[in-house]
Amino acid sequence: MLGVSDLRFRYRRSSEELFGGLSHGFSAGGVSVVSGPSGSGKSTLLYLLGLLLTPTAGDVSVDNVEAGGLGDGERSALRARHIGFVFQDAALDQTRTILDNVAEGGLYAGMPRGEAERRARVLLERFGVDLPPERRPGEISGGQAQRVGLCRALVKSPSVILADEPTGNLDAESASVVLRALWDAAGAGATVVISTHDQQIVAAADDVVAL
Ligand SMILES: Nc1ncnc2c1ncn2[C@@H]1O[C@H](COP(=O)(O)OP(=O)(O)OP(=O)(O)O)[C@@H](O)[C@H]1O
Ligand SMILES: [Mg+2]
Repeated sequence: MLGVSDLRFRYRRSSEELFGGLSHGFSAGGVSVVSGPSGSGKSTLLYLLGLLLTPTAGDVSVDNVEAGGLGDGERSALRARHIGFVFQDAALDQTRTILDNVAEGGLYAGMPRGEAERRARVLLERFGVDLPPERRPGEISGGQAQRVGLCRALVKSPSVILADEPTGNLDAESASVVLRALWDAAGAGATVVISTHDQQIVAAADDVVAL
């Protein structure tokens, strides 16, 4: 179970408080959508759920563990084991090949390198990134980078997938491949949370958090 309780967050003491004490549970086996206008906190909520930021008040629980009581090492371990994060801007490591970028998601979760690379190749092919795997992120398109970011999140078959506007840079056909993968992951039991402006995705979701 993934959830937030009485969640509040400020980037700085002087900045606006976000979420106003939000409590919500995100179900396994379903797709939840976080919607709202630009600046309403969609990305921030996903970073909090992904244990990349710490709440100003309230708590986040992942796999029924309340993250607020954990030390840094335990938070990192919980994140590596359970969470696949698809960043809004892909956030790939520019110094490494696309194959290494994807495989890294598996290495962090404790997978042997051979297994991580095998899975990485399968995912890149599935998502139509038919480029030489030794290419680097600076040498591919924005839409390809977004799909590489999705592969990196999926490589360890995480129980929680957090996807920040995963179809933002994609044409209709690539977007439908990505959405099908996210819905398939939910069908296989994962907890999937997507932030989006896309009203078609909002309408298809099992659950909506409107910010
Ligand atoms: N690193 C930061 N430092 C200070 N304020 C920030 C930071 N990142 C975001 N903010 C502010 O926090 C608020 C929420 O931002 P966030 O990126 O979560 O919004 P969003 O809903 O994802 O927007 P978009 O649809 O444009 O991606 C905004 O007011 C934003 O300006
Ligand atoms: Mg955002």
